[in-house]
Amino acid sequence: MSVDSTEDLFVEGLQHIYYTEQRLVDALEELESTSSADELKEGFSEHRSETQNHIERLEEVFEAVGQDPDGAEDPVVEGMIEAHEEFVDKDPSDGALDRFNIAAGQKSEHYEIACYGNLTPMAAQLGLDETADLLEQNMREEQNALDELATLGEEFDYGRLEV
Ligand SMILES: [Fe+2]
Ligand SMILES: [Fe+2]
Repeated sequence: MSVDSTEDLFVEGLQHIYYTEQRLVDALEELESTSSADELKEGFSEHRSETQNHIERLEEVFEAVGQDPDGAEDPVVEGMIEAHEEFVDKDPSDGALDRFNIAAGQKSEHYEIACYGNLTPMAAQLGLDETADLLEQNMREEQNALDELATLGEEFDYGRLEV
């Protein structure tokens, strides 16, 4: 399929974020299970529930453009998951892994925000205002998750790491 129109480009982006959100459901479970600090575990668990809602909203978006929900393999999210697996294989301490997981979570939120930040104005351009609202709701929750992770990163107790 050649990608020529705004709608083609929109659907292309939609398929990538749909795939990404699905992969992030599992990735957030992995981040939760490999973290030690309770507040970090809780944060990942909460955002995992939100991520399931993101997928449902995206399915509404597909419906609005008359398409069946379909994911397109996204090498960015795959790369982030691979980077996490490689780090876990290095057998890091609990503190090091918690600090790594905060950063890993932040990277995925930045990526999602970039995707939604581009899809939302495209939906508006296509005259799909309600669809743009759905995408913006997802983006706001990504931004909140990012802010919470940033705070956890700033408040991280480096005494948990070896000198
Ligand atoms: Fe999301
Ligand atoms: Fe997210």
